[in-house]
Amino acid sequence: MNQIILGDNLEVLKKIESETVDMVYLDPPFFSNRNYEVIWGDEGEIRSFQDRWAGGIEHYIAWLKERVEQMHRVLKPTGSIFLHCDWHANAEIKVEILNKIFGYSNFRGEIIWKRHNAHNDAKKKIAVLTDTIWYYSKSKKCIYNPIYGKYDEKYIKKFYKHKDNKGCFALDNLAKPDNKGYRYEYKGYKPPSNGWRCPIETMTKWDREGLIHFPKNKKHRLRFKRYLNKNKGVLLGNIWTDVTNISSHSKERIGYPTQKPEKLLERIITMSTNENDLILDPFVGGGTTIIVAEQQKRKWIGIDQSVQAIKITDLRLQKDLNLFSQPYTVQLHKYDYDELRNKKAFEFETWIIEQFGGIPNKKQRGDFGIDGKTKENIPIQVKRSDSIGRNVIDNFKSAIERFDKTLYNKNIADKKTIGFIIAFSFGRGAIAEVARLKNKENIIIELIPVSKVVPIALKPKLTVIFNDLGADKKNLRIIEFIAQAESKSGIEFFAWDFKYNKEKGFNPLVLLDKKGKQTQKFRAGSHEIAVKVIDNEGLENIEIINLQINGKTKQTS
Ligand SMILES: C[S@@+](CC[C@H](N)C(=O)[O-])C[C@H]1O[C@@H](n2cnc3c(N)ncnc32)[C@H](O)[C@@H]1O
Repeated sequence: MNQIILGDNLEVLKKIESETVDMVYLDPPFFSNRNYEVIWGDEGEIRSFQDRWAGGIEHYIAWLKERVEQMHRVLKPTGSIFLHCDWHANAEIKVEILNKIFGYSNFRGEIIWKRHNAHNDAKKKIAVLTDTIWYYSKSKKCIYNPIYGKYDEKYIKKFYKHKDNKGCFALDNLAKPDNKGYRYEYKGYKPPSNGWRCPIETMTKWDREGLIHFPKNKKHRLRFKRYLNKNKGVLLGNIWTDVTNISSHSKERIGYPTQKPEKLLERIITMSTNENDLILDPFVGGGTTIIVAEQQKRKWIGIDQSVQAIKITDLRLQKDLNLFSQPYTVQLHKYDYDELRNKKAFEFETWIIEQFGGIPNKKQRGDFGIDGKTKENIPIQVKRSDSIGRNVIDNFKSAIERFDKTLYNKNIADKKTIGFIIAFSFGRGAIAEVARLKNKENIIIELIPVSKVVPIALKPKLTVIFNDLGADKKNLRIIEFIAQAESKSGIEFFAWDFKYNKEKGFNPLVLLDKKGKQTQKFRAGSHEIAVKVIDNEGLENIEIINLQINGKTKQTS
């Protein structure tokens, strides 16, 4: 399943099966100016930052190298890797990491991406305008789809200067360059001295398709009409000057300095993968790679150590949720108590038993109170509720006996556990009964709180107040919103959807608001505004405000 995972990529990568990934794109923090490198500023990122900066470049290379080793391991033999870096360490990365891990002979290219234009600084010193993207494959047998760019305007004006109702076209030569052409007369037009470049059947077909240009004067040459809209564009090599960097006006802009443009990833993904291939971005940041992978119908995994990066990516994906072919999961360090409590019963049972290391029942019904078993065949029951009572223990005991009487008796005789109950919490009656069974009857049932199986936390608390700041000249009402949130782990950021629609889901206009304060203008009428708060564990809460302009304002949640 497609997933975004919170964690140090080294640890997460170690858990990914070998040879399962088709392409890795990585845009690690560069070995550059310290302040510029910290994007999110949260705990996870600062930790990673300190890891990399414990020593100089040697240390940075060692830090990156052990991660690239894992990426090499998870790549399929036909897979490739794109490592995005800049002048600070690109030489060391090539020689010390990629040549050593992937092999000199598996170097496929050095993509030079021109991301900046020269500014005034360039008057004083030579300006670095490019990034490097190293491209290696795991073996010689890798996927490569040629890439095309747009023709520039000057070229189009010069060559595509003819036009008809099908569009602009250029006139191409139909003569064979060497002396081995086809010699026949076509509709009164004599062949060129070297002959035509196609046999008469092809010429007739092209003619039927309206692709042949017949000059009025039969002494002039026939020509092929090459339409601009049928042309894939100009074949590209390793120098990419036509991908513009994210500017302050870019639609896709989120607002952090290292965000990469979707077009860059589009090119890399189409060049090196096919539909349904699995793409991995171990430094996913704001999720550019996986947004594009999703658009291009590829499967994906994104990893980042920053909660903010993971949640921004999640919110960015939610914007286009309706376009999704497949669902995805977000793996955080903590699970939201309310969300787990409200999961569908069977889905929760299956999931928690797997987390416990057991084998869940495949079928939902007819389990007689047994939802799965451990690898040693010990029954497991799951209750998706709190304060489990004594009756649950009685019923479970009988169910185990019915399930496998021999095993039940053997486990009692061996003083082994006869069954496990997993629930959110257990009442006093249940705890006392379990103790009694153990002490008096040698029957051991273990009570397992969900929090022992997976780490859980409460979602952050959120309230929003708003102030009417009056009307502007166009009679739009100016409203100030102030979100106040609380969480044990601390608040990361807020996101705002000012045109919230329950059916369409949360579609934030403001994705990354660290202060929780926004001002917006509204026309008269009724408006729904949704605010999300994200805490340090990545848990979130939402508040929905119903705003009536030109009437009373009221708040609902
Ligand atoms: C340059 S940004 C990636 C930007 C991304 N390509 C985009 O377009 O949004 C680098 C990311 O690597 C993450 N990172 C740094 N060290 C990491 C580690 N050890 N494991 C996982 N992610 C890490 C940072 O949190 C940051 O989001």
